[in-house]
Amino acid sequence: MIPTSDRLSRWTPAIFVCALVNFGFGLALSVSGFAWPLAPASAPASLAMVHTLTIGWLTLLMFGALFQFVPVITARALPSQIWPLATLIGVESGLVSMIGGFLALGRGGAAALLLPAGGGLVTLAVLLGAGALLVPLIAKRPAPLSARFVLAGLGFLLLTVLLGLAFAVALTVPALGPALGPGLAVLLGDGLGDHVLAGIGGWFTLTAIGVSYELLPMFMLAPHDRGALGVAVLVSGAGGFFVAFGAGLGGIISPGGGVWLAEQIGRLAIVLALGLYLLDVARLYRSRRRQQIELHNRAAIGAFVALGLAVLLALGAVAFGHLTALAPTLVLLLLLGWLSGLGVTQLYKIVAFLAWLSRYGSQLGRHPVPRVQDLVNEPGSRGVFALYFASVAIAALAAMLGWPEVTRAALALTLLAVALLAREYLRAWRAHYARAAKPAPDRPLPIPPPQGARR
Ligand code: HEM
Repeated sequence: MIPTSDRLSRWTPAIFVCALVNFGFGLALSVSGFAWPLAPASAPASLAMVHTLTIGWLTLLMFGALFQFVPVITARALPSQIWPLATLIGVESGLVSMIGGFLALGRGGAAALLLPAGGGLVTLAVLLGAGALLVPLIAKRPAPLSARFVLAGLGFLLLTVLLGLAFAVALTVPALGPALGPGLAVLLGDGLGDHVLAGIGGWFTLTAIGVSYELLPMFMLAPHDRGALGVAVLVSGAGGFFVAFGAGLGGIISPGGGVWLAEQIGRLAIVLALGLYLLDVARLYRSRRRQQIELHNRAAIGAFVALGLAVLLALGAVAFGHLTALAPTLVLLLLLGWLSGLGVTQLYKIVAFLAWLSRYGSQLGRHPVPRVQDLVNEPGSRGVFALYFASVAIAALAAMLGWPEVTRAALALTLLAVALLAREYLRAWRAHYARAAKPAPDRPLPIPPPQGARR
């Protein structure tokens, strides 16, 4: 059993702050016109932007959340709080180096070596982070459903960064000498789809599903046990991503009808898993015992809609042979609509919950304390979530229609929504709304600083 004082993962708030700064920076690269949609998706600045979002924002966000929740779902502590700190430092410094390397690509010179160097650092950092999570995850028997999603997700994270590292070496091979060249060059040509599948699908989506299976029932008071449907999502999802990824790589080494068929079977299993997951989420909302759905879970419906639309768009694109043309729209819908959408909505509650835990956790039962809901201003935040999802929808539609200036303008609104949400998180963390509320005479609201903060 973990004591109350240890329930707050020490570095999670700092990880969330860095992740949000990276999110803002990634969007700013797009809005400034430096990266896609005004530049081609494969331009160096676009690759820098994509990795700022995938590594700097989403990967850090996932780790911050997992360092907090894995000890809760396994009832076992992380081996040490140094590992999350090392993960944060490694990912941030590796990302900065990768961005420098991407921007140096095509200009020649040794600066491009920053790309594999940064990729190597990111790989080491995620190995450390994954190692810290594996200790409690493996020790817990039997592993809960959400923990099994996280285990599968971490496996795909490793595959993603290793493949990315191989690309980085292939791109900078002239600087390293011809010995490594030919094999990696083939991988670079044909392996991009597998890198994206493993990263956005295997790592982010499986992990997000696992975390949502913890958070949604917890805050909506819905049945936690997802039964056969939850297991079907896991088996079909993890199996589908694994088969599609393996067949994709196998096809590069030795193309043939067998691997093509395996890849299609893997893709079908993924579609089935995502369809079943969305059905299960609808079942979860319907079976909740909390009558009034809190704002973060009402807004999260936007993320589930984005996931459903992305699946339909992918099916249509494959059927009509437009997958390459629609790839940027799909990536936008998945990264900003589904994953970041779920991220910003759940952060709204997670930050308030962590602030409550750090300020009032140790006083519970000894003094009257505010509720977690008292730390946020739901009526004031409704419009911000609407702005976020509406701007992402417009950006996706404009990307599909080939209107880059409209996409860029819509992304500027997304950036504004993220800035406004960041202000709300900060206010929740500082108990701004609980301080502003007039305490009832019989229910004073003590506002101590967070544990560990200087008085
Ligand atoms: C969570 C981890 C990662 C995710 C989700 C991810 C995602 C992506 C995505 C979506 C693209 C396509 C971008 C586009 O076409 O505009 C891409 C390309 C690329 N990634 Fe990653 N990436 C990750 C980690 C890494 C790492 C650690 C490296 C190592 C340096 C790396 C190197 C590359 C390279 C070199 C490309 C371009 C490949 C090409 O031009 O064919 N990635 N990545």
